[in-house]
Amino acid sequence: MVDKKQSSRTFKKNILCIGGGYVGGSTMAVMAYKCPRYKVTVVDINRDRINQWNSETLPIYEPGIEEIVRATRGKNLFFSADIDKAIRDAEIIFVSVNTPTKNFGTGAGMAADLQYWEKTARQIRDASDSNKIIVDKGTLPVKTALAMERILTATKDVQFDVISNPEFLAEGTAVRDLLDPDRVLIGSRETPEGIRARNEIVEIYKNWVPEGRIITSDIWSSELSKLAANAFLAQRISSINAISAICEKTGANVTQIAHAIGLDKRIGEKYLSASVGFGGSCFQKDILNLVYLCRHYGLNEVADYWEGIVRINNYQKERFIFTMLLTMFNTLVDKKICLFGFAFKANTGDTRESPAIYIAKRLAEEKAELVISDPQAIENAKKDLADVDGKMRYVEDPYEAAAGCDAIAVMTEWNLYAKLDYEKIYRAMAKPAFIFDGRNILDHKRLFDIGFNVFPIGKPKLSHFRER
Ligand code: NAD
Ligand code: UGA
Repeated sequence: MVDKKQSSRTFKKNILCIGGGYVGGSTMAVMAYKCPRYKVTVVDINRDRINQWNSETLPIYEPGIEEIVRATRGKNLFFSADIDKAIRDAEIIFVSVNTPTKNFGTGAGMAADLQYWEKTARQIRDASDSNKIIVDKGTLPVKTALAMERILTATKDVQFDVISNPEFLAEGTAVRDLLDPDRVLIGSRETPEGIRARNEIVEIYKNWVPEGRIITSDIWSSELSKLAANAFLAQRISSINAISAICEKTGANVTQIAHAIGLDKRIGEKYLSASVGFGGSCFQKDILNLVYLCRHYGLNEVADYWEGIVRINNYQKERFIFTMLLTMFNTLVDKKICLFGFAFKANTGDTRESPAIYIAKRLAEEKAELVISDPQAIENAKKDLADVDGKMRYVEDPYEAAAGCDAIAVMTEWNLYAKLDYEKIYRAMAKPAFIFDGRNILDHKRLFDIGFNVFPIGKPKLSHFRER
């Protein structure tokens, strides 16, 4: 470890990030990689996480992150559990602690739980003995920066400038998103001090992000832009999923529709993949947070509008279960069902709010036996389903997992599932064999020709049973 004297001689700036999770760990690793003259330290109250960041097995699975950490760790990137010391040493402090949905008291199930964020604010204040710039990197309700200012300035004669710099990375592509972001947003108070602090953060990003993509705004717009961006992205998924329900009733094909509408430049082609539903730690949490905020301001019509996105997402997951139940002769009792994938999306081991959790719980309620397969998420799946009654096995190898099963349900769009030998899988399954493709990644016609009864999302089913 480099001591303070040495670091201040060697490095241009001391940057700290409080919270070494998916965002804190990846953003700081990339920052250290692109800014060799800055010392970047990441601290966390979870010592195991810090130990993992300092080990060969990092706490998150994220393509490309290992190489970046290996290139920087011990040079200008450090992971530490000594939070107070790191706060004292830092000139710029990013805050990237978790802000989950509150699950108690007022606002339970809707509002953001700001307890971790507030503890961090107080710890920064209490440990600081020099002026600092505090950068909120998390996704927070609008006006949280004001609360941060109030906590920080409540007791001390130290100057704190609070900046909002929300993160837009997506898991699974975090390194790529950080190295080549569409934009970096930096919001501040529009006072001389606020603008000076904002420019210091702009200077950091200028080390690798083209200037035109670094945008600045007032602080409330920055906070609200993050909630709005996630709400817009999730809105597209619920919109196409709503269309997928109409497709299944009418024989239209949702992929063809997505293609046809996506070619309109005003609409664009991205985030139009119909699915079993969106998951992840943020979309639902941030929309509910937005809805709570709207209700707080008496904007009930606006709140209802955004809440509809979450309602459609829940409906989409339940619709998937209903199709399985209906198709498999209205009973799933003792049927063996294999879930291909448990992560909330491909290329991550993260299962937070994964639709697979909901599907697994509902299948267990229907008394089906589950076999869960995933290349990265099995350990998280075990934790997610620890309290669920029912027969469950966890098998990484997809061939072994599907053997003897009545049905496969694709939960995650891992590339590997598209490339399997489905003839071999079919031979080893119980008959009739069903595939419910919750991600539309398989070759449905080919599966049908092999003998499967195939149920995609928003496309005509391919069934060997004769309709009467
Ligand atoms: P995370 O749960 O992976 O990591 C948060 C970390 O903060 C944990 O390791 C936790 O131990 C630590 N922590 C909590 N309280 C602390 C304290 N008082 N002192 C030190 N460490 C503390 O969360 P995340 O996914 O990295 O998300 C962080 C923030 O970024 C959230 O506001 C989230 O909404 C936002 N965000 C997340 C993503 C994403 O893809 N995960 C993307 C953009 C923005
Ligand atoms: C999302 C946003 O994309 C990021 O910009 C944002 O920073 C982040 O939330 C956050 O604030 O946490 P993330 O949740 O990691 O990123 O992943 P996405 O790629 O957006 O996928 C979210 C969910 O939507 C996944 O379950 C995914 O499978 C699903 N999805 C995505 C669809 O069902 N259809 C699509 O067309 C796209």
